[in-house]
Amino acid sequence: MTTALVELRDVRKSYFSNRIETPVLHGINLAMQRGEFVAIMGQSGSGKSTLMNVLGCLDTPTSGSYSLAGEDVGSLSRAALAGLRNRTIGFVFQSFNLLKRMSILDNVALPLIYAGVNRKQARERAQHQLARVGLGELERRQPNQLSGGQQQRVAIARALVADPPLILADEPTGNLDTRTSADIMAVLTELNRDRGQSIILVTHEPDIAAFARRLVRLKDGLVLYDGPAREGLRELAQEEAVNLAGSLSTATTEEQA
Ligand SMILES: Nc1ncnc2c1ncn2[C@@H]1O[C@H](COP(=O)(O)OP(=O)(O)OP(=O)(O)O)[C@@H](O)[C@H]1O
Ligand SMILES: [Mg+2]
Repeated sequence: MTTALVELRDVRKSYFSNRIETPVLHGINLAMQRGEFVAIMGQSGSGKSTLMNVLGCLDTPTSGSYSLAGEDVGSLSRAALAGLRNRTIGFVFQSFNLLKRMSILDNVALPLIYAGVNRKQARERAQHQLARVGLGELERRQPNQLSGGQQQRVAIARALVADPPLILADEPTGNLDTRTSADIMAVLTELNRDRGQSIILVTHEPDIAAFARRLVRLKDGLVLYDGPAREGLRELAQEEAVNLAGSLSTATTEEQA
């Protein structure tokens, strides 16, 4: 039996402020094998980023269990958890978090330096990764000398340089134009297909989710749909058409009244 790459069992997450509890995730069950490409969709506030933070071991569930690459995350020490996270996950989040004063080459090499790879080798691997996202020529530039789409590609190169088995992307195309979004999706799709890297991607856009094979839809902190992306997106489009028809008829009735 192969172990799942990701396995959430009845994961709940609340935020607390002034001792007031705001529950956000209400019992998520989700298993994912190596090599899968999953899109997560859901309305704003439905808990997508909260779920991604749990998956990325950046935050801990209030209850329930999470195992990542066969390790029970809740039972690990801080150091062990940081090690597991560094070995296993590459993050592509919407705010790129690139270091401004460094060349993009050094930005991309950073995860390797943290992992103890020597500088020369780290730079070589970073060069290779930048070339793969089409930025080989620009390696000496600093992030602010690049367009938004180019910066996002740097963030992807940095997420991938250490070859993590799991890539977590929270709205990676959120601020980008259609053309650049398509470029980013091409890079991710290729990685998934050719290298078998697993991808979990949050998006609001059906066109972007269509690159994934599996779709998970969240509603109010629960899984509303988990299945093939194609069927799930068709269902979503139908629901939206029904909602639109509903709001149009309400508007007409109000006009008549
Ligand atoms: N640190 C926090 N403290 C308190 N409440 C939070 C915190 N982070 C998120 N929330 C709340 O949890 C809920 C879910 O937030 P989350 O960021 O997971 O939503 P999302 O699905 O990613 O939304 P979006 O599509 O807008 O990014 C929201 O109601 C939000 O206000
Ligand atoms: Mg979010």
